[in-house]
Amino acid sequence: MNTNIDDQFCGKRVIVTGGLGFIGSALAQRLAGMGAQVTLVDSLIREYGGNLFNIEGLEGKVRVNISDVRDDHSMRYLIQGQDFLFNLAGQTSHTDSMQDPFTDLEINCYAQLSILEVCRKYNPAVKIVFASTRQIYGKPDYLPVDEKHLLRPVDVNGVNKVAGEQFHILYNNVYGIRACVLRLTNTIGPRMRIKDARQTFLGIWIRLLLEGKPFEVWGGEQLRDFTYVEDAVEAFLLAAASDAANGRIFNLGGDCVISLKALAEMLIEVNSGGHYDIRPFPPERKQIDIGDFYSDFTQISSALGWKPKVALREALSRTLAFYGRNLKHYV
Ligand SMILES: NC(=O)c1ccc[n+]([C@@H]2O[C@H](COP(=O)([O-])OP(=O)(O)OC[C@H]3O[C@@H](n4cnc5c(N)ncnc54)[C@H](O)[C@@H]3O)[C@@H](O)[C@H]2O)c1
Repeated sequence: MNTNIDDQFCGKRVIVTGGLGFIGSALAQRLAGMGAQVTLVDSLIREYGGNLFNIEGLEGKVRVNISDVRDDHSMRYLIQGQDFLFNLAGQTSHTDSMQDPFTDLEINCYAQLSILEVCRKYNPAVKIVFASTRQIYGKPDYLPVDEKHLLRPVDVNGVNKVAGEQFHILYNNVYGIRACVLRLTNTIGPRMRIKDARQTFLGIWIRLLLEGKPFEVWGGEQLRDFTYVEDAVEAFLLAAASDAANGRIFNLGGDCVISLKALAEMLIEVNSGGHYDIRPFPPERKQIDIGDFYSDFTQISSALGWKPKVALREALSRTLAFYGRNLKHYV
């Protein structure tokens, strides 16, 4: 399957918004290796996940454009002539979206519509894959959560991500601009933001662990699933390469379901040492916590043949090894 996928992107013009971020840069590494002509667009807003070190080794192999997806003029210039658009730029902090809802609205909703308008007017032949999130389901009515589950976002970020994904599906259905949506669950791996708990709790756990400090587990009994970043990248490529994905929304998922406490223990085991403390949820987090969550990814398995390949323990081991070597670039 991989050989086939490689052929689909070799020599193709591919743009990745959010391309200096965690998942976007992993996509860039893979696409550059396939011989695609890659353009990465990223605003490098300081508090977000973009980091030039994420594309270390790709110098001269990808084009980098430091632009904001809210800038219509840049986006019009950059999107013209592209074969594929991986649309990953986003404000990803749930708490930030509550404190500054309008910035989240601008990036995750308004800018998404303007990107689609650029495609409609100047590049209707482009194929788009949009990165959405399982957060939009809210507190699950049943588990595992499939794509038919009611959407009940618990924060501003979730509402805007729903709008973002629905605009993509609308433009697919009304204008024939081939677009599809992946609803990502917790994605982990090298290059994730670990500076603080803004984006993901696992990031700060890893940082504190490697600095020899105890980390906090809030609650601990909540169940979660995790996708290794290379598996997520594979899903983006499969979705881009297949017309069977057009107009569709797919959950991604993980190879297992695990409580946060068990995850903390596995992390410490893989690291051969470390400590954690169980703490109650801080009130502002409790309000937007969704309890147990894990997703059903049958749809993408049957439509595109995707399933997670990297087991959680291996994912943690590769991630810790990466930060063991590169911690100074991420703190
Ligand atoms: N990592 C996860 O667990 C996860 C889970 C669900 C959904 N997602 C989605 O996947 C996408 C990528 O997430 P990630 O984990 O790689 O996060 P990330 O923060 O590492 O990457 C996002 C990138 O977008 C860039 N960006 C933000 N606003 C921008 C703007 N206005 N203009 C241009 N660039 C901008 C940031 O600088 C950053 O490099 C996001 O859309 C996110 O909502 C991620």
